[in-house]
Amino acid sequence: MPPTRIALLGLGGAAQQLHLPALLEVPNSMLVGAADPDPARLRWAVERGVALPRFLYEDAGRLLRETRPDVVIVGTPPETHAALCLKALDAGAHVFCEKPLAPTIAECDEIIDAADRAGRFVAVNNQYRHLSFYRATRAAIDRGEFGRPYLLQMWQQMPSPGEEFPAWKARLNHLILYEFGTHATDLIAYLLGGPLGPAGEEAYPTSLTTRIVGPLDRPDLVSVSRLDFPHEVTASMTLNWQSKAPQRYLEVRLDCEHASLRLSLGGVARLRLGWSTERRRPTVVWSVVRGGEARVERDGQSRLIAAERPAGWVTATALAIRRFIAAIEAGREPEGSARHARELLRTALACYQSAEQGGALVPLDRPTATGVS
Ligand SMILES: NC(=O)c1ccc[n+]([C@@H]2O[C@H](COP(=O)([O-])OP(=O)(O)OC[C@H]3O[C@@H](n4cnc5c(N)ncnc54)[C@H](O)[C@@H]3O)[C@@H](O)[C@H]2O)c1
Repeated sequence: MPPTRIALLGLGGAAQQLHLPALLEVPNSMLVGAADPDPARLRWAVERGVALPRFLYEDAGRLLRETRPDVVIVGTPPETHAALCLKALDAGAHVFCEKPLAPTIAECDEIIDAADRAGRFVAVNNQYRHLSFYRATRAAIDRGEFGRPYLLQMWQQMPSPGEEFPAWKARLNHLILYEFGTHATDLIAYLLGGPLGPAGEEAYPTSLTTRIVGPLDRPDLVSVSRLDFPHEVTASMTLNWQSKAPQRYLEVRLDCEHASLRLSLGGVARLRLGWSTERRRPTVVWSVVRGGEARVERDGQSRLIAAERPAGWVTATALAIRRFIAAIEAGREPEGSARHARELLRTALACYQSAEQGGALVPLDRPTATGVS
């Protein structure tokens, strides 16, 4: 099998921290070139030996014409995604795009239509679901080990982001639900996807309500949402980027018929003393994990399902790319497809719509995991 020839658009934070290291974990692939209009980024790439200078371009169009890649990774700011995805598709490549796919549904539709016409696939990098402890949890749910989930609670407690944002992110009016929220709702779609439909499906809310705490004319830093799913399943999602509480990167409590799951991402140092009414004795749970862990709690006992030390963001992105290439080779719609990313964007936009209407319930008529519109 000849290697998959990959080109990279954008040499910023995502490329440096995720795409370039991840490509080292994608067997039988080669980076054929990279483009970025910022000379400082190109200089960085030369110094780091990312590619020979002649394979580094200021112009994405020229890179595509001269290298004819099989797959293009789009790692540029979201407002540039649609134009670059269309360019890459036009050049005959499949596209692995950073999240969020695009700022508007119209742009997502343009990308999906262009991919269909070109007979190419587009996938989006929501890599959290590829972290091994989420994967292990979903597999155990699919095996029916905990019964049917009915309530998912997700929360994030982070300090104020300060000055570390790239310029495009600092300019966003819609921030936490758009820029981070698509990761959060992707994870919810993944964790509830199997139980709500045949394994492999995604779960999308059928209605939702959101309150944004703080002025609506400023970027949202704190949001509280309730997402309703078919079969009386509900998720709550609280994202807080100005918390003074101890940092919690992403916590999930998933209550199922026969057990309660606790999924923690971003470091766990926990010592909990409790009383088990079932066992009529004190309980002690302790765990120290730098990455993430999944626990099942029932009958007064807490058992580790899976842990990841530290969180393998790079490996998760590598797995997303590997699974994308495997889907291309098999000729089937990839996991995390552009259609799926469009639904995640619809959820985020509906959250903003609800918040603007003071937390009104916004119905979402769209395919659900059970295929009901
Ligand atoms: N999946 C994740 O966990 C994750 C993490 C970080 C960022 N991201 C996403 O990655 C994308 C980029 O974010 P970032 O933090 O790397 O931003 P960044 O500003 O650090 O880097 C973006 C780079 O794209 C370049 N660029 C702009 N227009 C271009 C064009 N037309 N052709 C080629 N290059 C171009 C810029 O010059 C810059 O170097 C965003 O969509 C962001 O949401 C995802």
